[in-house]
Amino acid sequence: MAANWKMYKTPRETEEFLRVFLPQIPSGLACDIVICPPFVDLPAAAALLSGSPVGLGAQNLNENAEGAYTGEISGAMLAAAGCRFVVIGHSERRQLFGETDDRVNKKIQAALKNGLTPIVCVGETLSERESNQTIKVVERQVKGALENLPSAEVSRLILAYEPIWAIGTGKTATPAQAQEVHLAIRDILKDQYGSLISLGVRILYGGSIKPENISELMQCEDIDGGLVGGASLKPESFLSIVNFDSKRLAPR
Ligand code: 13P
Repeated sequence: MAANWKMYKTPRETEEFLRVFLPQIPSGLACDIVICPPFVDLPAAAALLSGSPVGLGAQNLNENAEGAYTGEISGAMLAAAGCRFVVIGHSERRQLFGETDDRVNKKIQAALKNGLTPIVCVGETLSERESNQTIKVVERQVKGALENLPSAEVSRLILAYEPIWAIGTGKTATPAQAQEVHLAIRDILKDQYGSLISLGVRILYGGSIKPENISELMQCEDIDGGLVGGASLKPESFLSIVNFDSKRLAPR
């Protein structure tokens, strides 16, 4: 379960969250946990997370190693700040900051080069869904993101399916809608890299996840976890999400 805090929380607020959240994580959880705060919160979060089972992630990186790129942050900087994960190609970055599939592909390579696990986001708009383009759009995004990556690198990725119409709207995809796209993503991976790799890549769902809907989403065969925005900002709410009811999870 990955928390994407977007542009919320100062370093002090991040500390306050973690001081409440960390002691309440039960042992023997059915999932791994990653928290992705804003860049300036990373040092405070890294200090509190060291020695805890929770991984630290950033929300973006620049694809270049270093240089005259005012305002940007490199993969090496994130790794040095204690990150193990980085969100890449979030729809907000694609829509608001002009990120293309090609740039997403370069960012994935930069992340992998620095030992970071990319959490690569894909997902369709409402009008693409309504015109039956969902699978086509997601296929283009997945193939574009992974272009020219060797299989060994693909197996290190995490993918996240986030239908744009479900982000921050309270309108979650139904388990059946999400499962259909997750299976399509799994099939694309299987076609290109074989079944071993396709089964090993974790595919997260994101879009209006809440404590009330996480368990039914997690029961879908191809949903391996969640990328949570709004509902990850309060410790109690994210705790209920990481404590989802896993009793009915089918082994794959
Ligand atoms: P919400 O959970 O707030 O819908 O956001 C989802 C998201 O964009 C996570 O990356």
